[in-house]
Amino acid sequence: MTQITLRRPDDWHLHLRDGAMLRAVAPESARHFGRAIIMPNLVPPVVTGDQAAAYRDRILAALPEGSAFKPLMTLYLTETTDPDDLARAHGDGLITAVKLYPAGATTNSASGVRDFDRVRPVLERMAEIGCPLCVHGEVVDADIDIFDREAVFIDRVLDPIRRATPGLKVVMEHITTAQGVDYARAGGDRLGATITTHHLVINRNAILVGGIKPHYYCLPVAKREEHRLALRAAATSGDPSFFLGTDSAPHVDPLKESACGCAGCFTATNTLSILAEVFEQEGALDRLEAFTSLNGPRFYGLPAAEDRVTLTKGAPVAYPAKIDTADGAVTVFDPMMPLHWHVTP
Ligand code: DOR
Ligand code: ZN
Repeated sequence: MTQITLRRPDDWHLHLRDGAMLRAVAPESARHFGRAIIMPNLVPPVVTGDQAAAYRDRILAALPEGSAFKPLMTLYLTETTDPDDLARAHGDGLITAVKLYPAGATTNSASGVRDFDRVRPVLERMAEIGCPLCVHGEVVDADIDIFDREAVFIDRVLDPIRRATPGLKVVMEHITTAQGVDYARAGGDRLGATITTHHLVINRNAILVGGIKPHYYCLPVAKREEHRLALRAAATSGDPSFFLGTDSAPHVDPLKESACGCAGCFTATNTLSILAEVFEQEGALDRLEAFTSLNGPRFYGLPAAEDRVTLTKGAPVAYPAKIDTADGAVTVFDPMMPLHWHVTP
């Protein structure tokens, strides 16, 4: 196969930031994607409906002239989230989902949840109104090894939440383990999982072998090879539980290349070419559209895109090593392999 046409992909987990960074990275996602779930971990976070509306307007203003890209907004769940404000924002179509960050788990998560019992009433309300919860699934306990944080979260936090509020729709964001794959696969219609592009490509060696490579550091951190293989099997299986959420997360280079570097891989620019390469390697190009364009809208109860993109195989794709922003350069994820799939338009 040298050409494949897909319904226009959506990105079910994306960081666009704000200000100069937003203006630089929004066009990178809008070039190929139709819609994206926009993460609310700004400083300060997007916690109210009014803040989500204002952020949506800033995103729309940052898009290229004539772009049809649709940001699907989220609220950042805190222990003081007002369920009425949330329900109003969801009812008005202003927000598509709510994001749960365990406090301290990742970038700008300080306002997240410490005591999960305190958000029980909000989760009940979300179940009633059909508002999905997107979960950053890592415990933050100092005694849990960072490579075990996802698996422990499933047992100690996620499974109890889902048992207590069975009507709640949950997305396990950016799963990185075979345990995450197994749990998502067995979870039925109300459980989905996003998988990033970079976790299909790198394992933890990419970060640590031959010198420390900060541009491969993200959270949840990439795991052992066996987990990467489980993620590749899940993503390429066609199983509707799994869909693309790039977690493309730009940080300017000085904040990555630092004694205490930020977590995040910036993949918006070359994500689709990388995915085509991965699916081709797995002999699953015919299931790429399910992962990028069908399973996500199905989970969220939204129509699949009507327009299409075409990928054509040819000479290696040229893409920039860095994106310039008024705040500084952002390094584009290097998949450590040539990419041959060109995306049009
Ligand atoms: O690598 C990550 N970067 N993981 C996250 O959970 C947050 C994100 C960010 O905002 O930079
Ligand atoms: Zn993220």
